[in-house]
Amino acid sequence: MEKVVSGIRPTGNLHLGNYFGAVKSFVKMQDEYDCKFFIADWHSLTTHPKPEDIRKSAKTILAEYLACGIDPEKAPIYIQSDVKEVLELYLYFNMNAYLGELERVTSFKEKVRKQPDNVNAGLLTYPSLMAADILMHKADKVPVGKDQEQNMEMARLFARRFNRIYEVEYFKEPESFHFNDKAVKIPGLDGSGKMGKSEGNCIYLCDDEKTLTKKVMKAVTDAGPTEPNSPKPDVIQNLFTLMEVASTPDTLDYFNEKWNTCEIRYGDLKKQLAADLCNLTRPIRERILDFQANDEYLNKVARMGAEAARETAAKTLAEVRQIIGFK
Ligand code: TYM
Repeated sequence: MEKVVSGIRPTGNLHLGNYFGAVKSFVKMQDEYDCKFFIADWHSLTTHPKPEDIRKSAKTILAEYLACGIDPEKAPIYIQSDVKEVLELYLYFNMNAYLGELERVTSFKEKVRKQPDNVNAGLLTYPSLMAADILMHKADKVPVGKDQEQNMEMARLFARRFNRIYEVEYFKEPESFHFNDKAVKIPGLDGSGKMGKSEGNCIYLCDDEKTLTKKVMKAVTDAGPTEPNSPKPDVIQNLFTLMEVASTPDTLDYFNEKWNTCEIRYGDLKKQLAADLCNLTRPIRERILDFQANDEYLNKVARMGAEAARETAAKTLAEVRQIIGFK
């Protein structure tokens, strides 16, 4: 059975970008593949979180994963820092990762621009740690959003390079997986591009209905189309992109038609989108609260997940050490 691995950094609650870009695929894949999902708490150290927040944030994501429908009996969920083997593989990949290529990674360059006073080595070597997460389990497929494409390319590069240097056919090159076969980039509704934690424009799965509706109703729009069948400006396309993933095809067709005939009323579109998002998040939100109240269960899931992850990790590490020359 093909193997699947993916993770999310615990730097806040899950937002719609995380959900449509990744977690929705996790839930779909757990029935068809040999899956493992994790919480990338080491990756979150690049932004220096407070010690008291680290375990708490990981638990939050764990409860949210479960609330979205990941079944730990089908797909173990683990916390990255519970599987120390990842660090050893990270070290080996770092020995074969070059400054120039790491500096050229777009997300690194963006961070350098956004946080010039915290350009740490963890940020630079972020792709090697991500490659270790993936290759540790010899994943065939990795469900991720569009923004992770370059990191996936780096993971394939590190796999190929390892094989070439040691003259083995050991690591497979992992592929990205996208729900509905299309890489998604969920936009923010503030006109700024991607929905993201550092962009501060997120709609969270745990937002109550009033908050969620308010965020949608405040979405940036324009004066409306003046020519039939005209292309949509970015801020309008953003609303339609969310509708594509959150609403039924009929609803989408209806509003596309209204756009094309210049009869669109953004207020109606937003109300419909907000209602569809509320319907999606309502049951999830209720389950988040239930899981969060059950710390014992969360601990058990994380413990079981860590055991399962360590088993494959230890096997890979023993083989990698052998290949590299450590006995
Ligand atoms: P992170 O924590 O930034 O995001 C987690 C997942 O959510 C997706 N995502 C989005 N998808 C579509 N539109 C958006 N606006 C949006 N925002 C976030 C991301 O593509 C991602 O799939 N490097 C990873 C975490 C990681 C990882 C891994 C992932 C560490 N090791 C190994 C896969 C495999 C990250 O920072 O994702």
